[in-house]
Amino acid sequence: MRGGGRNSRNLERLGLLVVCALLTGCSGEHSVLDPAGPQARHIGGLFWMFVGIGSAVYAVVAGFLLIGVFRRRRHQIDTGAPTTRPDHDSERGLRVFVISGVGVTVAILFVLIIADFVVGQRTSSLHAEEALTIRVTGHQWWWEIEYDHPIPGKIVTTANEIHIPTGQPVRFELQAQDVIHSLWIPNLGGKKDLVPGHPTSVWYMATEPSTFVGLCAEFCGRQHARMRLTVVAEPEDRFRSWLANQLQPALPPDSPDLRRGRDVFLTGSCALCHRISGTPANGHIGPDLTHLASRPTLAAGSVPNTRGFLAAWILDPHEIKPGVRMPPNQIGSQDLHALLDYLQSLN
Ligand code: CUA
Repeated sequence: MRGGGRNSRNLERLGLLVVCALLTGCSGEHSVLDPAGPQARHIGGLFWMFVGIGSAVYAVVAGFLLIGVFRRRRHQIDTGAPTTRPDHDSERGLRVFVISGVGVTVAILFVLIIADFVVGQRTSSLHAEEALTIRVTGHQWWWEIEYDHPIPGKIVTTANEIHIPTGQPVRFELQAQDVIHSLWIPNLGGKKDLVPGHPTSVWYMATEPSTFVGLCAEFCGRQHARMRLTVVAEPEDRFRSWLANQLQPALPPDSPDLRRGRDVFLTGSCALCHRISGTPANGHIGPDLTHLASRPTLAAGSVPNTRGFLAAWILDPHEIKPGVRMPPNQIGSQDLHALLDYLQSLN
């Protein structure tokens, strides 16, 4: 008896844990079920509608199944024989019941199809005449982000981090450099593929200031899973000041150590692939590093942007992200520290 009580308590705890895990999975910076924009809200509503109707159908079917099992068993107990040939009346009743079941199923499927269609229409109807345009280019395995501007010198380029103002639709122009990628910011809306040679666009809008995680949702090679991006939705004035800061070129180094760090960057192989605005480094193969220190992560969300990880990344990026395009670098200890100081000064 005591063992049975303990078992049931353990089962209760396990059930509680499962419920908690399921509920915590519904919220957060990377969840379709924690919508922060109108499109995600429509998609979330559709999800709950499917879950609700699906659960009700499941409960009804399971209920009828149980009724069938118990009725059959009672019949056997009463008559001592299994039912092999139902009488005419019950057969007719069964036929009506099955036909009604098929009718209800078809009706439910129609309701779900129409709801799906309406949500598709609503999510794709987001639009504005005058809108901020952000160009997103998928690379193996990082995101290049450009804030469009009619004057080329005022185009802001960054990587793996998108800032958007809240309360207004933003147009995302999507393109891919190498293979097919897919942009997915679950808290804001659905996925959209980035196909090489076929530029496309998608609109998103955030209603709440918050930080979300976006990711690549199309298998694009070995490091597909490490192709994340940070999305910061903030009030218009904060967004404008962030954008104005991103437009500024890197400040000239103001100490011998920082100057040494910059020289290591410019004379080594870094400048062949990376750009730092305000310096001769103008590579376009890897991410723009003009404001590297302002970003929360390195290598498209693979590791936090700390001095230790930055050093590890520079020396052997394949240790963190095997297969990445960036080669390992052999840099002496003093040069490395100067380089780290310089890169960490790029705010
Ligand atoms: Cu890019 Cu998966």
